[in-house]
Amino acid sequence: MVYPKPARRSWAEPWKVKMVELLKLITPEQRLRSIEEAGFNTFLLRSEDVYIDLLTDSGTNAMSDIQWSGLMLGDEAYAGSKNFYHLWEAVTQHYGYKYLVPTHQGRGAEHILSRILIKPGDFVPGNMYFTTTRLHQELAGGTFVDVIIDEAHEPANEHPFKGNVDLVKLQQLIGEVGAKRISYVSVAGTVNMAGGQPQSMANMRALRELCRLHGIRIVLDATRAIENAYFIHQREPGYQNWKIAEILKEYCSYTDTCTMSAKKDALVNIGGWLATNDQGLFEEARNLVVVFEGLHTYGGLAGRDMEAMARGIVESVDDDHMRSRVGQVEYLGQHMLDWGIPIVKPIGGHAVFLDARAIYAHLPQSQYPAQALAADLYVDCGVRAMERGAVSSGRDTKTGEERFPKLELVRLALPRRVYTQAHMDVVAESILATYERREQARGLRMVYEPKYLRFFQARFERI
Ligand code: F0G
Repeated sequence: MVYPKPARRSWAEPWKVKMVELLKLITPEQRLRSIEEAGFNTFLLRSEDVYIDLLTDSGTNAMSDIQWSGLMLGDEAYAGSKNFYHLWEAVTQHYGYKYLVPTHQGRGAEHILSRILIKPGDFVPGNMYFTTTRLHQELAGGTFVDVIIDEAHEPANEHPFKGNVDLVKLQQLIGEVGAKRISYVSVAGTVNMAGGQPQSMANMRALRELCRLHGIRIVLDATRAIENAYFIHQREPGYQNWKIAEILKEYCSYTDTCTMSAKKDALVNIGGWLATNDQGLFEEARNLVVVFEGLHTYGGLAGRDMEAMARGIVESVDDDHMRSRVGQVEYLGQHMLDWGIPIVKPIGGHAVFLDARAIYAHLPQSQYPAQALAADLYVDCGVRAMERGAVSSGRDTKTGEERFPKLELVRLALPRRVYTQAHMDVVAESILATYERREQARGLRMVYEPKYLRFFQARFERI
C-alpha cells in the first residue's frame, strides 16, 4: 500500500490509553441467532455478543486516571459527603447555577422537576421531544408541544442550528393557551432526536427575551450542552476566540434551571442532577428527592460517583477534549457523506444518524425501517446501533394511535474516549456493506409492546 503525502498536519486525541478491555467478534451465524433471540431489538442483545457498541453515548464513557483515583476518595457518609460539595462547586463554576440537587441519572431529575412545575392541563413546549423527558411531562399531566424550527425535521437540510426554537410557533402557543398554562419551555442543547443538532446563542438569547416578557421559565436539558457550546464556537459569528467553558456559562445563564444526565457530557458511567437559581424550586426539589432518589446530598449516588462527576465536569469543558470528541463523530459521518449514504446533516455532536426512511425507501414506516436497519447492521459486523423513529416515538397518549415522526433514523452514538479511528473505519465499512444490500431488506412486525418507552423492550418478527 502506498500512502499519499498528507495535505495537512494531523491532530490527535488529547489522551493515551492506560488500560484496555478485550473485544470479541462472534460469527455471522451467532449474530443472526442473537438478533432473533433479541426480537430484532438491539436493546435486548447481550453486550458480550456486540463487537463495537454504538447503542448509546450514555454512561459508556471512559474515565480518566484522575477520575478513577477520585473513586478512591469517596466519602460514603449518608449525609453531607464532601464529594457532594465538590460536585456542587463544579456545577456552580462551570454551569453557573446556584443550587444543586443530585439525582441517580437524568430521568430522576426530570421526574422531580415535572412533578414540581407541571399542573394537569399544562403545556410544555420544547425543541423536539426526548423520550424520558416527554414521558415525565405527560405523567405529570402536561402536554408536550414541539416548537423546534421546521428544518429540524428534514434530514438533508443543512441549517447550522437545527436545534433552534421557532419563536413564532412558541408565540402562537402562548396566544392560544396563555402563558399561565405553560409550565416552562423545555430546551435541549444539543437536540438528541433531531440528530445531535445545536441551538445558537442568538436563538437562546431571543427565547430568553420572549419568555421574560411573558413570565415563562426556561428549563435547559444540559445533557449535551457542552457539545452545543462547541458548535457555537465553530459556527456562530463572534465566538471563535471564546473558550468552550465561557460559551457554556453564557448559554446556561439564559435559563433558570437545568436537568442533567451526567452520563453523557460529564464523562461518567452514572449520575445526574437538577440545578437552579430559584431558591423556592430548589427547596421543593431537595424535599422531593428524598422521596424518590435518596437524601439531598447524594440523590441515589455513592460519594465516589459524585467525585468522578465533579472531576469529569472539569475535563469535559476542555477545548481539546471537545474537539476530539465531536471530531470523531465527524470522521465517521464524513465517510457516509463521501459514499453518498443518506444521513442527518449537518453531522451531529454525539452520533451519526442514518436516514432509514431514505435507505430502506421500499419499506413503509409501519414496518419500522429504522428498527430493521439497526438489526441488519448488527448482523453484518456486530455493530450495535439504536432505532430513533416510529418505535421510539410511541403512541399518542390521548388517541392511542402510533406516532409516525418525520425522522425515521438509526443512531450510531459514540462513547467518549472509548473507540479508535480504526474502529470507526470498521463501522463505516459495515454500514456501506449493509447499504449496498438495501434492496433485499425486509420490514418488521411488532409482536410485543410495553406500555412505557416501548423501544427499550419491544419485540419484533421479520415480515
Ligand atoms: N435528556 C437527553 C437529551 C438524553 O439524551 C437522555 C438520555 C436523558 C435526558 C435522560 O437521561 O438516561 O440519564 O436518565 N439519553 C440516553 C441516550 C438514554 O441513549 O440518548 P438518563
